[in-house]
Amino acid sequence: MPIAQQLVDCALQIPGLDAAGDRVAGLVNGAYDAAGPVKRPLKDALNGTWLGHALHPVLTDVPIGAWTAALAMDLLGERRGAKIAVGVGLLGAIGAAVTGLTDWTDTYGKPRRLGVVHAALNATATLLYGASWLARGKTGGSGFALSTIGYGVVSLSALYGGTMSLDLQIGVNHAHATEPPAEEIDVAALTDVPDGGMKRVDASGYPVLLARRGEQIDAIGAICSHQGGPLEEGTLKDGAVTCPWHGSTFCVRDGSIVNGPATYPQPAFSVRVIDGRVRITATDGS
Ligand code: FES
Repeated sequence: MPIAQQLVDCALQIPGLDAAGDRVAGLVNGAYDAAGPVKRPLKDALNGTWLGHALHPVLTDVPIGAWTAALAMDLLGERRGAKIAVGVGLLGAIGAAVTGLTDWTDTYGKPRRLGVVHAALNATATLLYGASWLARGKTGGSGFALSTIGYGVVSLSALYGGTMSLDLQIGVNHAHATEPPAEEIDVAALTDVPDGGMKRVDASGYPVLLARRGEQIDAIGAICSHQGGPLEEGTLKDGAVTCPWHGSTFCVRDGSIVNGPATYPQPAFSVRVIDGRVRITATDGS
């Protein structure tokens, strides 16, 4: 078995991950609930809905990059520069932790368990770098030793973070699991779609959600971009559909995000109704 897979399997064997995950998620959700009416916009901001990309992986580059620079400067004897880089990494680690916890509260099962290990390692590395920052400038090499151990810890944690994204698909765009058809395609009879309701149809293997108001039909991808929820099982209100899994809401006209936690819009389709048949074509960017 490849070494990365062994490390992941090993992490998932740690007892108590589910209980620890539930406890931490309860604390994070409680903190968001206490934010009252700003909960939703605050979560959206930290998820990266405004950016069109998950914010967490953007911010994780700051501590990893800064701490790599610190290691290089330590090895070159640039002690002052190394201390500054350690401090920059500590600031970046705060942002990475807040955004990561926000994303993680919407995970379950294996991603949630591995996320507990990822968070615990990151917290350990941050404490080691914090101690290193305090120790630097004093006699002895403990500052360098602490940050070097921290670098090993954060590297292992980065592997788990990568597994959560690339293998377990947290933070990726699930609406693009398959390609929408390039050509116009007949997907349903107009009468198949209930007035004021929704219907999921198959467009050459790509799942599409049709939403109808009278003669008006809108079409967007039916698989929620956030984590793959079935939008046809969600609720349709005021021209927007809300995913039943974590509450992301998308405009059915153009697939844009009304609110997160999704960070990617839904693919959208232009619709023509000809002789009572609904025909859809992927719009640019879908
Ligand atoms: S799958 Fe999470 S909001 Fe749709």
